[in-house]
Amino acid sequence: DGELSLSRSMINSSDKTIRKGGSAIFQHSVEGWKINSTLVLEIRKSILRFLDAERDVSVVKSSFKPGDVIHYVLDRRRTLNISQDLHSLLPEVSPMKNRRFKTCAVVGNSGILLDSGCGKEIDTHDFVIRCNLAPVVEFAADVGNKSDFITMNPSVVQRAFGGFRNESDREKFVHRLSMLNDSVLWIPAFMVKGGEKHVEWVNALILKNKLKVRTAYPSLRLIHAVRGYWLTNKVHIKRPSTGLLMYTLATRFCDEIHLYGFWPFPKDLHGKPVKYHYYDDLKYRYFSNASPHRMPLEFKTLYVLHNRGALKLTTGKCV
Ligand code: CTP
Repeated sequence: DGELSLSRSMINSSDKTIRKGGSAIFQHSVEGWKINSTLVLEIRKSILRFLDAERDVSVVKSSFKPGDVIHYVLDRRRTLNISQDLHSLLPEVSPMKNRRFKTCAVVGNSGILLDSGCGKEIDTHDFVIRCNLAPVVEFAADVGNKSDFITMNPSVVQRAFGGFRNESDREKFVHRLSMLNDSVLWIPAFMVKGGEKHVEWVNALILKNKLKVRTAYPSLRLIHAVRGYWLTNKVHIKRPSTGLLMYTLATRFCDEIHLYGFWPFPKDLHGKPVKYHYYDDLKYRYFSNASPHRMPLEFKTLYVLHNRGALKLTTGKCV
C-alpha cells in the first residue's frame, strides 16, 4: 500500500490543539523508531510518478539560451529574461545526478533547534540539506556545520543581507557562500516576480568572486509536481514550504531521511516559547492568511510518516 493513508479526519483532528501551540499528540516516540524500508521505497516510487528530483532539482544550460523569456511559475502573466550571467551559472548536468546516500538530514529553521545539542548528530549524516542560507557557525552545537545542499529564496538578500546596500553586506554574503565550498546553492529564481534583481546581484557576486558553489535553479514544473504528489495523497497544500520540498526531493537520493528544525508552533510540548527561526526575530506568519504555507498541516503529515517509519523527526534534544 503506497498510499500514505492520511485521512482528512486524521489531519483535521488536532487542528484545535495545533492552534493552541503544540500538544501531546505530537509527542512522537523516538526510542522505538525504526526505518520502514519497504515504505521508503514505495514513497520514492510514488513520488517518481510526479517528478524526478534528479532532473527537476535544476534546469540545465541546454534548457535555455541567454535572452530567452520565461513565465514565472506562480505568476504566469509576468516574465523573466534569462540573462547572460544566469545562463552561465546554470549547471551542465544536474548537480544531483547519480548521487545516492544512506542517511540524509533535512534541517528546517525552527527555534526548536536552540539548545537541542543536535549539531554533532546532524553532521554525521552523509548529506545535509539546509534552508534559506540559515547561519550555522554561531549555532553549530545545535545545528551542526555541514551543508551539502542549501536553499536560498531571493528574499534572503533583503532579509539577512541588507539588500546588499553596503559593501559590508556584500562581503558578509560572499563570506557565507565561500564557506559552502562546492556545495549546491539552490535558488528558486523562477517562482514569482519580485526577486529578479536580487538573483542578478547574487549571480554577479558569485561570478566576480569566482565562488565554488554549485548553483542550481529548480525546474519550472517542480512546485506543481510536488503539490500534485501531496494532493494525490490527500494533503491539501497550495504551496509546499521549502522544508517539505526538500523532504520530497530527498526521497530520491536518501535511504533514510532525518528531519530537524521542523516545529511550526510558538510553544514546545511543555509550553515554553519557541522562536520561529533559530537565528533571527521573525515572527510566526502562517496562522494568518498572509502566509501561503500550511506548515502545521505539513508537520502533521510528517508526524504521521515518522510514526510509520518513513522518516525520522527529531524535535527534542539529541543525546
Ligand atoms: N520550519 C518549520 N517550523 C518553523 C520554521 C520553519 O517547520 N518554525 C520548516 C519549514 O518546512 C520551512 C523550513 O523549515 O520551509 C525552512 O524555514 P524558513 O527558512 O523559515 O522557510 P520559510 O521562509 O518560512 O518558508 P519558504 O522559504 O518555504 O517560503
